[in-house]
This record gives sequence, structure tokens and C-alpha cells, in this order.
Amino acid sequence: ENPAYQAEFDAKIDAGGYIEAKDWMPESYRKTLVRQISQHAHSEIVGMLPEGNWITRAPTLKRKAILLAKVQDEGGHGLYLYAAAETLGVSRDELLDALHSGRAKYSSIFNYPTLTWADIGVVGWLVDGAAIMNQIPLCKCSYGPYARAMVRICKEESFHQRQGYDLLLTMMKGTEEQRDMVQDAVNRWWWPSIMMFGPHDKDSTHSAQSSRWGIKRISNDDLRQKFVDATVEQAKVLGVTMPDPELKWNEARGHYDFGAIDWDEFWNVVDGHGQGNVDRLAARVKAWDDGAWVREAALEYARKHDARDSR
Ligand code: ACO
Repeated sequence: ENPAYQAEFDAKIDAGGYIEAKDWMPESYRKTLVRQISQHAHSEIVGMLPEGNWITRAPTLKRKAILLAKVQDEGGHGLYLYAAAETLGVSRDELLDALHSGRAKYSSIFNYPTLTWADIGVVGWLVDGAAIMNQIPLCKCSYGPYARAMVRICKEESFHQRQGYDLLLTMMKGTEEQRDMVQDAVNRWWWPSIMMFGPHDKDSTHSAQSSRWGIKRISNDDLRQKFVDATVEQAKVLGVTMPDPELKWNEARGHYDFGAIDWDEFWNVVDGHGQGNVDRLAARVKAWDDGAWVREAALEYARKHDARDSR
């Protein structure tokens, strides 16, 4: 603790400035960022799994190319975010170890299964749509390396959202069976998507402090409301309905009202008991173990070159 440094840090935050990796920062600010950025990075790479699952079954070459590009983008997002976390003095190995041993959190949403091709469209439309809603304000968060990583991530996420919506529009113009598949996927993904924004503000552990620090610019509930308002209109164009009988426009508030969220389901999934948790983690650990020879070969190659250069 250093009062002069603290005052300088507070002034920078109050002025809406950026904190950089080499600047002094309170230990609790650093820890909060490591927590959030690493959870975010883990979500990106675990998020590759439910979609990667469909690459071999994409219905056309065009859809396959789009899906391959999207899944690769998610891997890239994970890498920028691990790099941003590393600027805070943690190693990627530590972070991955926390993921692989089940100690780290990642977004609840990736523990749900992708049962049909319509799920791929709905994941793009709703899941990536929710992700962008939450991530645009992060482009202006107070930690420079995180904010800058988010700029490119948001551009790519916006392509992901559109490809999902486009896929669904195409299916809705197809057969009755295809339209039913889309509606069924919306029914399964709607509630989990609005849970992605996290607990209500009053139940959110970190919101007050993270808002004070300029890490969180818009609250969990405000982002959720923005998302509901935007997607309900998109659903009308698409011709699907959300599985919520209480969803209706509230003229006085100027927003859609919606039903109560099942927080027991949310915490059950966050605590590791969702449909997909065990499989997702096992798939990540397997990918890590299967890649061991690549890491060893790269290290050996670097060692050989170091030895040659220092001769
Ligand atoms: N899934 C899993 N855990 C969650 C979720 C969720 N959807 N939402 C909140 N939580 C956890 C928090 O991580 C926190 O747990 P912790 O104290 O063990 O870290 C706890 O619930 C309480 O929540 P909050 O106090 O509201 O936590 P926070 O201030 O971090 O806000 C939020 C949560 C909004 C998700 C924030 O961390 C954030 O903006 N993260 C960056 C975006 C992100 O990770 N997106 C990932 C999904 S999108 C994608 O990858 C395509």
C-alpha cells in the first residue's frame, strides 16, 4: 500500500484513463482482473467445443467454411485474453492448470449441448449476441491491455452473431421441420443466454467494486435488459417466439418485461453439475495432453537454436 500511488491510480480511474501493465495498481484490482480475464479466456476456448462438434456435419461447404473460421476465431480470442492476463504477472500454465483441475470458472453457457444444426445458428445469434452486448463496454474498461484485446474480439463476435442469424433465416425459409428445429433450439437456449450476464446486480459479488474501478461499465441487469430488448425484435423478423409467457412490452419502462430466471439452474451449472460440464473439461484436458508432443518439440527446437546462437 502506497498512498501516493493509490491517489494517482484513483485519479486516473476517475478521469476515465487507462491503467497499463507497468503502472502501480492495488493488489485487489490486479486479482480481480486476473480472475475475470482468465475466466473470459477459458470461456473462449471451452466455447470452441459445442460448435467444433458440428464442423464435420455442416450441411454445405459454405456453412462448413464459416463454422471453421468462427471456431478458429474463438481460439484466437482465448489466446489474446491469456496474453492480456499474463501482463498481470500470472503464467498461462498456472491459468490452464486451474481450468484443467476444475478450479477455474468459465461461462455457464458452454455446458449446454448443441443437439441439432439449428443450435449452431442459435448459438451465433443468442450466445454470441449476448457475448457482444457484454463485451462492447469492456473495450472501454480501465485496464488497457484488456480493453485493446476486446476491440478486435468484438469485431469478430459481430461476424459470429450475423452468421448465426443468417443461418437461422435460411432455415426459417425452408421446410416445416427446419422451422420446428429452429424454434426448439430457441426454446432450449433462451434462458441460458439471459443467464450469461450473471446474477442480478443485488446478488453480484463483484459488481460494486468492479464498477468503481471502471472494469464494469454497464451492470449485469442493464446489459441483460438491453439484450432482451434487442433480441425480441430480431425474433419477430425471424418468426420465432421466446419461451417466456411473461415477456411483454412495458410502455411505462420503455423496455420488455420478462419472467423470473431460474437461478438454481444457473448455480448448478456454474458449480459443475450442468449437462456438459464433465465432457467439456475432459475434452479440454485431452486436447492439452494430446498436444504435449507439440509443446515439447517447440521447446526442443528453441533450445537447439539457443545453443547454436550462443556458440
Ligand atoms: N457463468 C459462470 N460464472 C458466472 C457467470 C456465468 N455466466 N456470471 C457470473 N459468474 C460468476 C462470476 O465469475 C463470479 O464468480 P467468482 O467470484 O468465483 O469469480 C460470480 O458468478 C458472481 O458474479 P459477479 O459478481 O456478477 O461477477 P463479475 O463481476 O465478474 O461479472 C461477468 C460476471 C459479467 C460475466 C464478468 O465477469 C464479465 O464481464 N466477464 C467477461 C466476459 C466473459 O467472460 N464472457 C464469457 C462468455 S462469452 C464468450 O466467451 C463467447
